[in-house]
Amino acid sequence: MKKYILDLTVTENIRLHANYVLLKLTQAEPLPEMLPGQFAEIRVDGSNTTFLRRPISINYVDRQKNEVWFLIQLVGDGTRKLATVNPGDTVNVVMPLGNGFTVPEDTATKVLLIGGGVGTAPLLFLGETLLKKGLKPTFLLGARSKNDLLQLDLFEALGDVHTTTEDGSMGEKGYVTMHSVLRDNTFDLICTCGPKPMMMAVAKYANQQGIACEVSLENTMACGVGACLCCVENTRDGHVCVCKEGPVFNIKKLLWQI
Ligand code: FES
Repeated sequence: MKKYILDLTVTENIRLHANYVLLKLTQAEPLPEMLPGQFAEIRVDGSNTTFLRRPISINYVDRQKNEVWFLIQLVGDGTRKLATVNPGDTVNVVMPLGNGFTVPEDTATKVLLIGGGVGTAPLLFLGETLLKKGLKPTFLLGARSKNDLLQLDLFEALGDVHTTTEDGSMGEKGYVTMHSVLRDNTFDLICTCGPKPMMMAVAKYANQQGIACEVSLENTMACGVGACLCCVENTRDGHVCVCKEGPVFNIKKLLWQI
């Protein structure tokens, strides 16, 4: 899939939470084709400490407004600097990068999307894509507490939403793999993104139940195009660059002990 280096214009910068901003970007030309699960490498301008672009997953694509959204967790100098852009500012973005989640052809496929923390971000775009293809997704979203569950209203517009929080402030208390939706339903495919221990637990569950499962790996990335080798993962196909061969992998390709 063709990649582009684009100077995009900020339309909105919304502070969703003390630790998260939602950046909406546009350009005069129609934005390129993007797939759910793909990501962008965003340049951080005006920082004395951040020289590498930041890999950020595509949160949503609003074709009507010609906008691409990025949900950014403020974890360091780079993302904090990025969070200071204002409407009208230019942000340089390389995208779309990597490979996305599988979108089943069979509309009877029951798909569960499991996200944890900022890992819920690509599931919004994936959920909307599934819905457009005639599949109704079910979401299982987990976070530390109620305030960390982001964009719930948008998820609810796309499918059934179930939540877990570690402190019990919303939904069922505990981890996603303990949620009753897994007990009370059957699914054909699980797509997950979030902290690695969560994804490994989901992969283990899927493996035991014989459910197909795709995970989006968040290995450390720099170049995003397979040149620096800092994102390498050892898989059944040998060592591969997560930025190029992933970030989405079927769990059968991984060497996880599940
Ligand atoms: Fe450089 Fe993957 S991030 S090779």
